[in-house]
Amino acid sequence: MALFTSFLCLISVLAAQLALSHSETYIVHMDSTLLPTPFSSHHHYYTSLLTSVSNYKHSEPIYSYNNAIHGFTANLSPSELDAIKKAPGYLSSTRDEPLKLLTTHSLDFLGLNSLYGAWPASDFGRDVIIGIVDTRIWPESKSFSEDGMTKIPARWKGGCYGGTNFSTSLCDRKLIGARFFNKGFRAANPNITLIDSARDLHGHGTHVSSTAAGNYVQGASYFGYGIGTSKGAAPRARLAMYALGFTREEGFYSSDVIAATDSAITDGIDVLSLSIVSSGPLYRDPVSIATFAAVKNGIFISRAAGNDGLSLKNILSGAPWVLTVGAGTTDRDFRGTIILERDKVSGKIVLCQANLIDEDDALTVPKDFKGTRVAGAVIIVNSSDLPLVEIDFPAIFVNPENGKLNQDYVSGSHEPKAILYFKETLHGRKSAPKVAYYSSRGPSPTSPLILKPDLIAPGDAIIASSQEKYPVNFLVEGNRINSFGVASGTSMAAPHAAGVAALLKGAHPDWSPTAIRSAMMTTADVLDNSLNPIEEWGSNRAATPLAMGAGHVNPNKALDPGLIYDADTQDYINFLCALNLTSKRIRAITRSSYNCSNPTIDLNYPTFLAYFNCMNGTKSVQFQRTLTNVAKTMSSYSAILDKVQGFELTVVPKTLVFKDKNEKQSYRLKIHGPCLPKGTVLHGSVTWVENGGQHAVKSTIVIVNV
Ligand SMILES: *[C@@H]1O[C@H](CO)[C@@H](O)[C@H](O)[C@H]1NC(C)=O
Ligand SMILES: *[C@@H]1O[C@H](CO)[C@@H](O)[C@H](O)[C@H]1NC(C)=O
Ligand SMILES: *[C@@H]1O[C@H](CO)[C@@H](O)[C@H](O)[C@H]1NC(C)=O
Ligand SMILES: *[C@@H]1O[C@H](CO)[C@@H](O)[C@H](O)[C@H]1NC(C)=O
Ligand SMILES: *[C@@H]1O[C@H](CO)[C@@H](O)[C@H](O)[C@H]1NC(C)=O
Ligand SMILES: *[C@@H]1O[C@H](CO)[C@@H](O)[C@H](O)[C@H]1NC(C)=O
Repeated sequence: MALFTSFLCLISVLAAQLALSHSETYIVHMDSTLLPTPFSSHHHYYTSLLTSVSNYKHSEPIYSYNNAIHGFTANLSPSELDAIKKAPGYLSSTRDEPLKLLTTHSLDFLGLNSLYGAWPASDFGRDVIIGIVDTRIWPESKSFSEDGMTKIPARWKGGCYGGTNFSTSLCDRKLIGARFFNKGFRAANPNITLIDSARDLHGHGTHVSSTAAGNYVQGASYFGYGIGTSKGAAPRARLAMYALGFTREEGFYSSDVIAATDSAITDGIDVLSLSIVSSGPLYRDPVSIATFAAVKNGIFISRAAGNDGLSLKNILSGAPWVLTVGAGTTDRDFRGTIILERDKVSGKIVLCQANLIDEDDALTVPKDFKGTRVAGAVIIVNSSDLPLVEIDFPAIFVNPENGKLNQDYVSGSHEPKAILYFKETLHGRKSAPKVAYYSSRGPSPTSPLILKPDLIAPGDAIIASSQEKYPVNFLVEGNRINSFGVASGTSMAAPHAAGVAALLKGAHPDWSPTAIRSAMMTTADVLDNSLNPIEEWGSNRAATPLAMGAGHVNPNKALDPGLIYDADTQDYINFLCALNLTSKRIRAITRSSYNCSNPTIDLNYPTFLAYFNCMNGTKSVQFQRTLTNVAKTMSSYSAILDKVQGFELTVVPKTLVFKDKNEKQSYRLKIHGPCLPKGTVLHGSVTWVENGGQHAVKSTIVIVNV
C-alpha cells in the first residue's frame, strides 16, 4: 500500500511537467501476477493508473487485455508513458502500428475427398472451431449457411455481436461468433468513418473465412470461371469472425488484433487463421506475443508468410510457435480461345505485346490498360505462367508463339477480324504446385534460427466467397459484383492450412498445436504433379526450402504421420532463454514468471537450419531431436539421409525403436563441412522410414550462408 501511494505522487509531478507533448497510442505490457492491493481487477488498476498519469482526469484504457497479452492500450503523451514505465508491474510498451493486409478447386488439388483421408476421418472438421482475425465477414453468403450443420459444441463461450447492418440473427450453426474490434483504429484515425459491426465491405475476410471452413455451395463460379461446388478446407468446421477496424488506405492496428486474439482465446476456438503482417523482434511484436498465449492455450495458429517476394529474409511473421504459410499455385488454368477471321465482330480488338516482368522481377498488371475502353484485347506475354490479372475489358493473354500467329494474321490481312471465347477452365496443368513469386522467402529475421516458411499451401487464383453488395473487389476497383471472388496471396494460403489443421484436430483431439504442425510438415510433398521437384514460379528452378519450407501440405498424409516432433510451452521458453534476451523481454512474451534453467536454441522443430557463414576452414553443427510415436504400439524406423554435396551428415542412432504409443526416442544430427560463400543455400533431408510399414517422417535440412 505504501509503495503504491508514493508512486502516484511521483507520477503526477512528472505529468505536470510534460503535459503538452504529442500523444500516441501505446500497447503496454504488464505483469499479470502483480495487482496492487486496493484493486479488484487489472482493468480497475489500469484505469486508476491512467487517471493518475493524466492529472486525475478520469481516463480509461482503449482496451485492457487478459489473455493474448496482459496489459492495455491507451493514448499517452511521452511524459505519461514515462510515468507508466515506473508503475508496478510495467514490463514493456510498443507504439500501436498500422498493419498490412496480405492480399474450389484447390481442395481437390490437395487430394481432399469424401471417400478416404482427412475429410471422413475428421467428419469434415465437425465441431472444430476456427477463428478468423480479418476484415470482417458477409454473413449472408451461402458459404456461411448452416445447412447440414449440427448443434454448436457446448464448450463454445463466444457470442454474436450485432451492429451496423449486422443483426445477431445472422449468426448460425456455421458462423457461430462475430465480434468487431476497431477502437485502436479509431484512436489513430478519429476522422475516418468506420461501421460498427463485423459487416464486410471489402471482401478479404469473407474470402479467407470461406476458404478455411465455408459450407458447400453448388454452382459457384467467378463470372463463369471455375464452376463447381465451393467449400472450405474443413467444410463442417465452425467459424468465428474477429473483425478488425480496417480501410484499404490505413490497414488495421495491432491493438485491435490483440483485442481480437484475446477474445478468441476466451471464447474457446481451436484454430486461428491470421493473414496479417506485423513486424519487430518477437518480444516487441504484439501479434507474436498474442499468438504465444494462444498456443499456450492449445490453439493452433496459421499465419500468412507475407507477399514480399523473392528476396531472402523477408518473412516478418516467423515466430517459432506458429505455422508460417507460403503460397503455391494450383493445377487450374482459366483460358480463352481466339478464333481469327470471322464476320460477327463488333468493336475493336487490340493486339499488343506486354512485358509483365518489371525491374523488381515481379509480375505486374499492365497498368497502361487500366480504364481503356476497347471491345477486347489479345496480349502477347513472355511468360508461360501468368499471374492473376484483372482488367476492365475482355482480354486473352497468349504466349509469343501464338502471338506470332496473331501478328502474322493481322499484318497479312486486309480487314483482320477475331472472336474471343471465354470461361474455359482447365484442370490438371503441369507442373503444379509452384511457389508463387510473391510468397515471402525465409529465413525470418524475427526468428533466424528456425527455418521459415514452414510449408506452402494453395494461395494463387483462389475462388471463394466475397461480399456481395458493394461494387468493389478487394483486388481492383471496378463495378463487378459477384458472390465469389478470385484472389491470390499468402492470405489465401493461411486459411487453407488452418482448415487442414482443423481436420487434424478433429481427427486427433489430443494433439497439441505443435504436434499438428509437425504432422503437416513431415508429410508435405516436395515433388509436383509431374513428379519433379517443386519449382519457383517464373524461374523454372527448383524451389529451395527458403521458399517452400518442408514442401506443399498434404492433408491425407498428415492425418497419419507415424511420428511427431512435439514441443510444449516450456520448450519455447527454453528457446527464448537461449536467445540472450533480457528477463523483461522474455516476460513480455511469457507474461508471467518463467524457468530459464535449461536454455537451448535447439528447439524440437521438424526442420533443421544450419548457418555456415564462417570465414575459412570447416565447421560442425549438432542438433538433437525427440520423436513421439503417435501410430501403433510397436514400430521401428531407420534414418535415410538425402545428402548435401560437400557435407558430412551423421545421424545417431540410425534406428529408433518404439515399443508403445506416445513413447519418445531421441537422435542427434551432426553436420560437418566447409564454410560457405555468402548467398549459398544448400539442402538435403533426413527421413525416418518405418521398417515394414508405411510411415516416412521427413525433415528438411538447410545449410546456408545468407
Ligand atoms: C446498410 O444496409 C443498408 C440497406 O441494405 C444500405 O442502404 C446501407 O448503405 C448499409 N450501410 C452501410 C454502412 O453499409
Ligand atoms: C480531424 O478533423 C478535425 C476537424 O475537421 C481537425 O481539426 C483534425 O485535425 C482532424 N484530425 C486528424 C487526425 O486528421
Ligand atoms: C522474353 O524472354 C526471353 C528469355 O527469357 C528474353 O531473352 C527476352 O528478352 C524476353 N522478352 C521480353 C519482351 O520480355
Ligand atoms: C548467447 O550468449 C552466449 C554467451 O555470450 C553466446 O555463446 C551465444 O552464442 C549467445 N546466443 C545467441 C543466440 O546469440
Ligand atoms: C526449473 O526447471 C527445472 C527442471 O526443468 C527444475 O529442476 C527447477 O526446480 C525449476 N525451477 C523453478 C524455480 O521452478
Ligand atoms: C582465409 O584464407 C585466406 C587464404 O588462405 C587468407 O588470405 C585469409 O586471411 C583467411 N581469412 C581468415 C579470416 O582467416
